[in-house]
Amino acid sequence: MTDDTTPDRSRRAFVRAAVAAGASAALVGCLEDGTTLQAPAGVEAPSSLPDRQHAWNDALHEDRDGNVSPPEHHVFLGLSLSAEPDETARETVRTALREVEKAIAWGPDGVLFTLGYTPAYFDRFDAPLGDAVDLPEPEPILALTAESDVTVDTNDALLHLASDDGAAVLAVEQALFGDRDRLNGRSLSASLEGVFDRTARRTGFVGPGLPADRQDGLDGIPDGEPVPDEAPFFMGFRSGFRESQATEDRVTIREGPFAGGSTQHFETLELDLEVWYDESDHEQRVARLFSPAHAEREAVGEVGERLGTETGVASVADDVRDHARDEGVVGHAQKLARARDDGTPTLLRRDVNTTDDDVCGVHFVSLQREMSEFTRVREAMLGEEFGRYGLGPRQGNGILRYLRVRRWGSYLVPPRPRRALPRPDPDGEDSEADDAPKEKDGSGDG
Ligand code: HEM
Repeated sequence: MTDDTTPDRSRRAFVRAAVAAGASAALVGCLEDGTTLQAPAGVEAPSSLPDRQHAWNDALHEDRDGNVSPPEHHVFLGLSLSAEPDETARETVRTALREVEKAIAWGPDGVLFTLGYTPAYFDRFDAPLGDAVDLPEPEPILALTAESDVTVDTNDALLHLASDDGAAVLAVEQALFGDRDRLNGRSLSASLEGVFDRTARRTGFVGPGLPADRQDGLDGIPDGEPVPDEAPFFMGFRSGFRESQATEDRVTIREGPFAGGSTQHFETLELDLEVWYDESDHEQRVARLFSPAHAEREAVGEVGERLGTETGVASVADDVRDHARDEGVVGHAQKLARARDDGTPTLLRRDVNTTDDDVCGVHFVSLQREMSEFTRVREAMLGEEFGRYGLGPRQGNGILRYLRVRRWGSYLVPPRPRRALPRPDPDGEDSEADDAPKEKDGSGDG
């Protein structure tokens, strides 16, 4: 049976609504009736977890072509410190996070998460972040004057929770903020409540069929349900092909006290898809997102199913000026393939769709070794050089015309042993002992 009344379908719809709204403890309690989240594999976890918080790819599933499939459900919690970041608070954060890892498996069937810190967080310490971390104050890069209403993340931290099971994301959020004292059958002794206040809550989702399911009645999308059924993103195409993503190694900081960490950009984009769907056809959409050559060769398919692990944009990157001059269009991916480093992508994109505030949008998340690498690529996206061919942000300059930046933030995602309220100079002479875990892994109820 596949009708909407099956328990699975109704549970999915219920969880989806709960993730978007944030759920009460009682509600998640209901969700868990008869449901057990995947637990870590025996005593090995969580000591076997990678040092890199951002090392998700090995745990994630792959699609039929061999591309990494992102988790379906996401919650991004903006956090502000409500306590001094001293050793007591640090120990609380450390314990709370490790208790989650002991209760639920690290992976899309359990939960994946990263905790990152803003430049504003580090500003409170006397010592500077060393040269090995490139994390300047965030400065939005804007294409349109309509984007004047941009919120810059000046709070302290961002917790990104992700899972294929929305109930897992919700249960972990509640566990971390003191709304429950047991998680997946284990009792909890610490929470982030008392150390952090939740100052922003944003949600996202990604995967074939999910945007089509949720397109109804949103701001920014025309009537008539234009998003193709199988599209994983609102703009109608697959993304995140293996060859156009940086590897986790490529985005990892190599030296200094935060070696094993990464930097993270978080940007919220509102989508204005009326013109995208109503005034351009499939061929024009392919030209703007991939390249005019892809459109001509019908290389993409309805939602990108003809592409395997690569888009082939690198091979048309050099034609971009000809396309600007002769076709009046340059592709978004074509333009950005030119910003690769010696042929290698520098950003690991983990963007997701959002319907926060009933507006159709994207939370664009990317990891890179240095924020300057992100800036370089994001500036390339402006495509200012194509102005000479008459391609301003409102013309065929990739997808700029359909995007409005609304939120912008930069974070350091420290390596796992240093993710709990790190000092900028954890190896400094007067620093506390390292953040190595103090309790034994796999022991009792923590
Ligand atoms: C709504 C917003 C966006 C959508 C729908 C979108 C969509 C896409 C698609 C479909 C591709 C080609 C498939 C792939 O290789 O993944 C792509 C590639 C890419 N996008 Fe975006 N993108 C968006 C925003 C951004 C932003 C804000 C950046 C930041 C600079 C960005 C950076 C890139 C990069 C670096 C590539 C890969 C280029 C290469 O192959 O080297 N995108 N994007």
